[in-house]
Amino acid sequence: MNIQDIKKVYVEKFGTHDAPVYTSPGRINLIGEHTDYNGGFVFPGAVDKGITAVINPNNSEKVRAFSIDYNELSEFGLREEDAPSQSWARYIFGVCRELTKRGLQLGGFDTVFAGDVPLGAGMSSSAALESTYAFALNELFDGQINKFELARVGQSTEHNYCGVKCGIMDQFASLFGKAGNLMRLDCRSMEYRYFPFNPKGYRLVLLDTLVKHELASSAYNRRRQSCETVAAEIRRLHPQVEFLRDATLAMLGEVKSKVSAEDYTRAEYVIQEVERVLSVCKALEKGDYETVGRKMYETHRGMSKLYEVSCEELDFLNDVAKECGVTGSRVMGGGFGGCTINLVKDELYDNFIRTAKEQYLSKYGKEPKVYDVVIGDGARKL
Ligand code: GLA
Repeated sequence: MNIQDIKKVYVEKFGTHDAPVYTSPGRINLIGEHTDYNGGFVFPGAVDKGITAVINPNNSEKVRAFSIDYNELSEFGLREEDAPSQSWARYIFGVCRELTKRGLQLGGFDTVFAGDVPLGAGMSSSAALESTYAFALNELFDGQINKFELARVGQSTEHNYCGVKCGIMDQFASLFGKAGNLMRLDCRSMEYRYFPFNPKGYRLVLLDTLVKHELASSAYNRRRQSCETVAAEIRRLHPQVEFLRDATLAMLGEVKSKVSAEDYTRAEYVIQEVERVLSVCKALEKGDYETVGRKMYETHRGMSKLYEVSCEELDFLNDVAKECGVTGSRVMGGGFGGCTINLVKDELYDNFIRTAKEQYLSKYGKEPKVYDVVIGDGARKL
């Protein structure tokens, strides 16, 4: 849906013609999965798809929010006890609460929003929604909250109002994205660096399995718990280990008998993945995309066999990529469904997409959705 259409709905619902419009994108991640809440590195970029909202203060204490995609209106107050029942509206409510906790003098507002970032595809539509409102409300109500803290507003919304103990990657990417650039973020220090990403002769493409697991958020939270349990155990022997990011496989070996076999393999994946992000950075600097691709396959194996956040359909598409000679392929984002991200040579692209569609259709009765990645800008006023 384009901006004019969203504005039109706003005028129909709330009457005002010149209300401001804000947008924030979803994200991809080249490598560094489930490393963010372990204090490690991630390598995301914003996409050219996101959430766009018309928002205007209404001089009351009430929010009136209309979701075009759900064709639903939600009205709620700004106090802790005013939480709306619709789950999409809880993201906006949560952002309001988290901004208020950080001192913003927030009043009511009217808003209409729509998105073109696919839901449940692992491209972080929820971070796009949170970042749109965090960024817009901070500006509209004269807040002084910086973009790092706005990212934390979105993250705390997930933790406190939506039940997902996520890391900072998605909200960071949505706020700091820059067209044509990936970003390497150190999730402990929050230092980041832009990497222009224009791999000559290759394309990045997402294949969406269209699978979305209902229990993904509790499984996600359990993974995080495993990581924290193992880090705490290692810390007893090595007090400098704050997160798994600081641990080595040798340290992990020392606590093998103290942790469950499951927690052990979870931690093994994370420790290897933190290392992989750094080797991918080096490879990218040299334009060595073959190494980048190899590391992506390694990540997929780790996420599937050790971290266990893949699923049959994702593994299937990963195998198809391998058979088609795709340079790199892996499950992207939290997992449990969603997309694979694929680094594929120009000349292999058509055959890969055709083969993936045919084989997926004959096995699962539907074609995967295909998204060519265009790396876009972060949160902004339009
Ligand atoms: C989800 C979370 C992120 C990150 C990824 C996995 O997208 O929101 O914080 O943990 O999963 O890398």
